Amino acid sequence: MGAFLTELKRTHTCGDLREANIGDDVVLMGWVQTARDHGGTIFVDVRDRYGITQIRFDEAALGAGYRDAERLRPEWTFGVRGKVVSRGDNANPNLNTGAVELLAEDIQVFSESKTPPFQIQDELDTAENKRLEYRFLDLRRKPLQEKLILRSKVNHVTRNYLANHGFLELETPILTKSTPEGARDYLVPSRVYPGQFFALPQSPQLFKQLFMVAGYDRYFQICRCFRDEDLRADRQPEFTQIDMELSFVVAEDIYNLCEGLIAAIWKAALDVDVVLPFPRMAYDESMDRYGVDRPDTRYGLELVNVGPAFANSDFKVFAGLVEKGGVVKGINVKGGASFSRRQLDDLGKFAGIYGAKGLAWIKINEDGWQSPIAKFLNDDVRAQLTEQMGLEVGDVALFVGDKPSVVNDSLGNLRVHLGTKVLGLTDDSTYNFVWVTDFPMFEWDEDGNRFSAVHHPFTSARPEDLHLLDTDPGAAKAAAYDLVLNGTEIGGGSIRIHDQEVQSKVFSCLGIQEEEARSKFGFLLDALSYGAPPHGGIAFGMDRLIMLLTGAESIRDVIAYPKTQKSACLMTKAPSDVDDAQLEELGIRKRRGVGEA
Ligand code: AMO
Ligand code: AMP
Repeated sequence: MGAFLTELKRTHTCGDLREANIGDDVVLMGWVQTARDHGGTIFVDVRDRYGITQIRFDEAALGAGYRDAERLRPEWTFGVRGKVVSRGDNANPNLNTGAVELLAEDIQVFSESKTPPFQIQDELDTAENKRLEYRFLDLRRKPLQEKLILRSKVNHVTRNYLANHGFLELETPILTKSTPEGARDYLVPSRVYPGQFFALPQSPQLFKQLFMVAGYDRYFQICRCFRDEDLRADRQPEFTQIDMELSFVVAEDIYNLCEGLIAAIWKAALDVDVVLPFPRMAYDESMDRYGVDRPDTRYGLELVNVGPAFANSDFKVFAGLVEKGGVVKGINVKGGASFSRRQLDDLGKFAGIYGAKGLAWIKINEDGWQSPIAKFLNDDVRAQLTEQMGLEVGDVALFVGDKPSVVNDSLGNLRVHLGTKVLGLTDDSTYNFVWVTDFPMFEWDEDGNRFSAVHHPFTSARPEDLHLLDTDPGAAKAAAYDLVLNGTEIGGGSIRIHDQEVQSKVFSCLGIQEEEARSKFGFLLDALSYGAPPHGGIAFGMDRLIMLLTGAESIRDVIAYPKTQKSACLMTKAPSDVDDAQLEELGIRKRRGVGEA
């Protein structure tokens, strides 16, 4: 008998033991997965993050320790010393350790467990909220452990790769000033300056640019960013970026560096050799062909501009739209002529979510065109549509007409719905990367009646477009790029403005007055007037990368302690009330009615 932990150290993990270990004296520590009492013999599966090993407790061999073995229940933790023996004909081929078992000679219970609210097993139909409340138990399950272990690996590969490429890993403040990435800020009240607030960083954007001004020429950080925005399946209020900035570079240099990083990550995480270099596509082309700025290029179903064909038709809705400057685009769904009326209605409803006023369709049947609008289409129009869309017997063509943004949004999303859900044309082990380049500098904000930055206000125009800032800002293209994987934006960045005058010009295009620019970004403008090098950078969404690497459906599954879709932590019950005294100290009083049930 020895003392566990001090003398009896863990010799192996619960995933280690093989036939070659037969006869070894070993010590295992872990959690009870299952315990089966056969009267005189108890079989316990002990689990840790490496695997499961069967322990056999024989009353005759174990003596007094057997009483402890009898008490073991699921999720208790214990240490056990014993001899590795063969399971012979009773081997379990489903376990890595299944050829052997441990014949116990000594046991110590470390701690007991209440009955868990759900079982620690791979497949679970427990409500997610319950799992989030008991996250520490959910994290014991293998599917979550595998994702976090892979995440740890990606962290290491990233650090190694960037360090090997001369990058410095530098930190930037969390308590800071509002950084404009376009989302709402999380604010932190200052006690020392009552009535004043820090903002949590939406990204380290300005600080990393200042590092370049300071001469640190290659910076990276795996950092937390905070954005108070409406959450979706691939968004969290706090998330992690692989953030980089480089001096004396053009976009091409950044593409090369990032392609190497992505290749290293895919190799280490999945043993997949991604094909380099990644293809590139200009933003305009992506919008034309896919309707979105993050094209999923794993399948066709491309959007075709058929406005001109319909302009000459008697289908007044479309002809009228085109005359007024609207557009009509269509998608040819091969084999879609077999869609039922109900299916077509559902597709129409789907397009409606994105503002489409209808979804016109034409089925190409053996015996001719079947469609509510066929009677408005003469031979000439039919010939044009057939040619442009490659229509053949068995196809269905789907159309939306509206202003360009509605057509692209509705058909672009319908395309993804068709490709991934309805037709199932994708598989998760195909990785189609594409750089989307040449984004517009600005987009017109109807509500604010002014331009807003498509990337952020520190992004440079393409050199050949700089003059447009004075004459036609809306037409200027930015030196900005996104890396898209299978229809998800995994990273984005740009070449920055390093000239104070150009920066002021961009602020003025954005309707940011000089006074406001000084008060918000005075430090940046100052820095730009002290010898700023040309520089640029990018940030990858770590959580999204891990989602795509693991095939996770929800971003919550790749974050150890995530927030719900409603931005709350169910385990810690944050956010929560604070003491009146704390508010008093901060000079804050709640408005009457706020926070009361
Ligand atoms: P951007 O805003 O495009 O750029 O963010 C970079 C990447 O971060 C990920 N991301 C998110 N992931 C999870 N939850 C969110 N709420 C969320 N928001 C963004 C995306 C995105 O591609 N400072 C610039 C980068 C630069 O210019 O260098 C920036 O933050 O994968
Ligand atoms: P209507 O002549 O309005 O009955 O429309 C005939 C067909 O065209 C119906 O299937 C409508 O759903 C469709 N439709 C009407 N407006 C649009 C539009 N803006 N875009 C796409 N389809 C439309």
